[in-house]
Amino acid sequence: MDKLEIKCAGPLDGRVTISGAKNAALPILAGSLLSDSPVVLANVPHLNDVTTTVKLLRRLGAEVTVHDGMELEVNPSTINDFNAPYELVKTMRASVLVLGPLLARYGRADVSLPGGCAIGARPVDLHVAGFKSLGADIRIEDGYIRARCGQLSGARIILDTVTVTGTENLMMAAVLAKGETRIENAAREPEVADLANFLNGLGARISGAGTATIVVQGVERLSGGRYRVLPDRIEAGTYLVAAAISRGRVRVTGVVPTHLDAVLAKLAEAGARITQGVDWVEADMRGRRPKAVDLTTSPYPGFPTDMQAQFCALNAVAEGAGSITEQVFENRLMHAVELQRMGADLRIRGNTVLSHGVEQLTGAPVMATDLRASASLVLAGLVAQGTTHVERIYHIDRGYECIEEKLGLLGASIRRIPG
Ligand code: EPZ
Repeated sequence: MDKLEIKCAGPLDGRVTISGAKNAALPILAGSLLSDSPVVLANVPHLNDVTTTVKLLRRLGAEVTVHDGMELEVNPSTINDFNAPYELVKTMRASVLVLGPLLARYGRADVSLPGGCAIGARPVDLHVAGFKSLGADIRIEDGYIRARCGQLSGARIILDTVTVTGTENLMMAAVLAKGETRIENAAREPEVADLANFLNGLGARISGAGTATIVVQGVERLSGGRYRVLPDRIEAGTYLVAAAISRGRVRVTGVVPTHLDAVLAKLAEAGARITQGVDWVEADMRGRRPKAVDLTTSPYPGFPTDMQAQFCALNAVAEGAGSITEQVFENRLMHAVELQRMGADLRIRGNTVLSHGVEQLTGAPVMATDLRASASLVLAGLVAQGTTHVERIYHIDRGYECIEEKLGLLGASIRRIPG
């Protein structure tokens, strides 16, 4: 298996263009199944998870054409299969997002239960309960969610827990349901709003996306159209942390600065000078050592769980004591153990990582366990003495487009070693 070799190379300096958001592209690709004619998507990131989703759409019978510049055209008019098999779903849990569209448009879907993953059990019970509220008959058998329905009927759904893909799945199912659906305690992530904007462009009638209450008026059908996926706020945040950890200066371009508010507040607390324009943000450490920060993850607009691992790496070399608490997932601190192997002074207490920053980490072979953990190990490798080998980087390829090229352009010493 490939690994990344990273050597300490001093402060990063430069600009990086941010790609389309993985967590917007995946639900939007699934949402294209709701249309009865082709949709064209721009700014789709070139990531393994996107490739997996395209594979799934093709397996369902949709025609997917990749145009130059990573524009994807999805023609869902040829759908003839309604099964998302385990061998595909186990590699990417977001495959569960085809459930809502298939149910809404075809009245049937057999989707493998995604199963747990490294960061937690990640059940889909709220998705299933919501589909039942909309009138679907759902049976869980031999590891599959077997869903059947006539036309779905609008309902009031109150989500027990804020769930991003749960909100997205139910919103998509409601688009073609009869009558009005209200989703309360909905996820407010920008990617949910991006999905709603995409669907409204095809003729859906969704209001309130991005707030805790989403209202959907069902419509007969959705037409085709074009849409540009929003930029990836987590990729952007990761490169800004790369500036902070290396005491350098990085400008991320092609972003929506307001989507980064919680992350920028913590970077400023760590001592970065933050400047921003309409579509760019810059973090400049002016050569200074970052200061440790305290944070707790929570659903948007709180501090994003997808940035937690990156800040653990920052705290590992920051001045002073820090405390990072993970509240969204039950097992998303495994990167802390790998950082300890690089000399980080971290202690795990329940779902909190307590840190005392060290002046210098030491390079070591480390193993990535999930997408954002792998990013945190790469960040640590940028400032660790000697060489760091990050193994199992298929995780990182799921969510970061051309990471070694982008970091290389900022002055990092990083290369991929085929395994
Ligand atoms: C989405 O996952 C993202 N993935 C995750 O990004 C992100 O970390 C997460 O939201 C939180 O922001 C995509 O959008 C494709 P949740 P999702 O449902 O929707 C519990 C990355 O690194 N829950 O919001 O699967 C669940 O166990 C990935 O890009 C239930 O109990 O997360 C968790 O504790 C990782 N029952 C909490 O809710 C359910 O039916 C939040 O999970 C659904 C969720």
